[in-house]
Amino acid sequence: MTVDPTSDPTGESTSDPTNDPKSESKSDSTAAVVPEAIVHLARSARRITVLTGAGMSADSGVPTFRDAQTGLWTLVDPQDLATPEAWHRDKPYVNAWFLWRVHLMSAAAPNAGHHALAAWGRRPDTDLRIVTQNIDDLHERAGSTVLAHLHGSLFAWRCDRCHRPASTPHAPADPTERIEPDACLHCAFGEIRPGVVWFNEPLPEREFTDAVQVCRDADLVLVIGTSGIVQPAASLPHLAGARGIPVIEIDPRPTEFSPFATHVWRSTAATALPALVAALDRP
Ligand code: APR
Repeated sequence: MTVDPTSDPTGESTSDPTNDPKSESKSDSTAAVVPEAIVHLARSARRITVLTGAGMSADSGVPTFRDAQTGLWTLVDPQDLATPEAWHRDKPYVNAWFLWRVHLMSAAAPNAGHHALAAWGRRPDTDLRIVTQNIDDLHERAGSTVLAHLHGSLFAWRCDRCHRPASTPHAPADPTERIEPDACLHCAFGEIRPGVVWFNEPLPEREFTDAVQVCRDADLVLVIGTSGIVQPAASLPHLAGARGIPVIEIDPRPTEFSPFATHVWRSTAATALPALVAALDRP
């Protein structure tokens, strides 16, 4: 996982940045007005791929990474917390921070956006595939099946030596500076680390291969709540665009991907998705 919006490991860029999206719509009230072009695409799509990022969980009270003032990486340095080097430099510090996030995520609840996607996925004749960069389990707790957690999961810990899975360690309710990692129960030397993908680590192969596949064979792709900065996940929507597959971005703010989107809907996940799913059946 790297931070470089310009590098394109797929080599299949959609178009040049001057190509503005066909439409940009705004709606931030609870009764969001769903842009007609977006309803039309959603109604006719059967194979729908949904790429979600931290913004998908923002309405559940889970901080994003790069939003001004509130983003985690504006508060702490990812080089000190989300790299294999940081782990080997100071395991108790990194361990404590990820256990704090286990506590936060366990206390959070899926929002209306998560529930709307789950409802959409249950519709007959609909094959909705969720690919997420998020390490929380909010999609699953809303009733969705996630095809790929590209950046791993906060609820899948493992040994940093033998890689065998381990149960999620106890997560204290109060943030704690340092917590010694649990020892591996299988091998003599290992310690239990979070099952997330850190910067400078490769993505899980099966998950990325499946994500590429469903971006290539979709009728419609939705990109929800991601800044489009982190590779290789940021290249996935371009795969669809390169095949003429419509790509809808739902995000309250412009992202690195906005110039390449077919339609941009400046709204939040919890506002836009329930309105969109409700509009699927409206005459
Ligand atoms: N609804 C929809 N989108 C939102 C909302 C919301 N309520 N609130 C914020 N957003 C948008 C922001 O405007 C921004 O574009 O969500 C995006 C969040 O971007 P980032 O914080 O960069 O998160 P993400 O793109 O998921 O980060 C990618 O970076 O740090 C690594 O591994 C981490 O998976 C993460 C990856």
